[in-house]
Amino acid sequence: MAQSPYTDLARPPLNPVALRRALVVPGGLWTDLALHEATASTNADAATAAREGVPEGLVVVAERQTAGRGRLDRRWESPARAGLAVSVLLRPEKVPAHRYGWLPLLAGVALTGAVRGIAELDAVLKWPNDLLVDGRKCGGILAEAVHDAVILGIGLNVTLRPDELPGPDATSLALEGAGSTDRDPLLRALLRALAQWYERWRDAEGDPDTSGLRAAYLDDCATLGQQVRVALPDGADLVGVATEIDDDGRLVVQPEGAPAQAVASGDVVYVRR
Ligand code: BTN
Repeated sequence: MAQSPYTDLARPPLNPVALRRALVVPGGLWTDLALHEATASTNADAATAAREGVPEGLVVVAERQTAGRGRLDRRWESPARAGLAVSVLLRPEKVPAHRYGWLPLLAGVALTGAVRGIAELDAVLKWPNDLLVDGRKCGGILAEAVHDAVILGIGLNVTLRPDELPGPDATSLALEGAGSTDRDPLLRALLRALAQWYERWRDAEGDPDTSGLRAAYLDDCATLGQQVRVALPDGADLVGVATEIDDDGRLVVQPEGAPAQAVASGDVVYVRR
């Protein structure tokens, strides 16, 4: 039997007409918003559109993903209408490619702002862009390059219950006592902030300082100054103090008695000194 979108009253569907009216406006970044009841992965859909030459500004949203992708080849899973799963297609043509590392961090700043503003929770980022509330993860970002386009995919756990979480280190806005778990204003705030930051950063040709992005990221990110262990994609571990975010968005780690290293990707764990 087909499931009615109203089966779970705590999880009402998104309103695509109102979202489009608010977000797809003349002169704005967002050119189209596709809302799917179910799809394999919104990142995969946006990547297909990128390969077909669709211009930047496409937003793909799904109420449910059947093969949601996470960072470092993990999966991203969430029940229908329990979270946000959204991907955007960007083509930052005037920005040098070595600055593209800022894009997932930029999305993290937008997500943090939306969650703080709408859900009224004290959310922070763990480099590169895990969204943590009270030390547990409730959102993440996956950036994927497709030729000269970049797909930014954002997942946010909104009303997941404990038995629906992927593990003990995860949480949802509802479980953290959010002031609101209404996904329409959350998505509007997220996409508005994302457009604002992207336009500032792109117009500054990707410069993290003249755009103000580095300062905003450092305000939101709790990783700097911490003793960390970074699990690198090649399986190695890097242990040291996280000292800065470099000009290309990489995390600089200072190991004891060895030269500092900048890492572009990896999993950070905070360790006690
Ligand atoms: C992470 O591992 O922290 C990143 C998770 C990113 C999940 C989002 S959900 C929307 C978009 N579509 C996907 O398949 N993945 C991203």
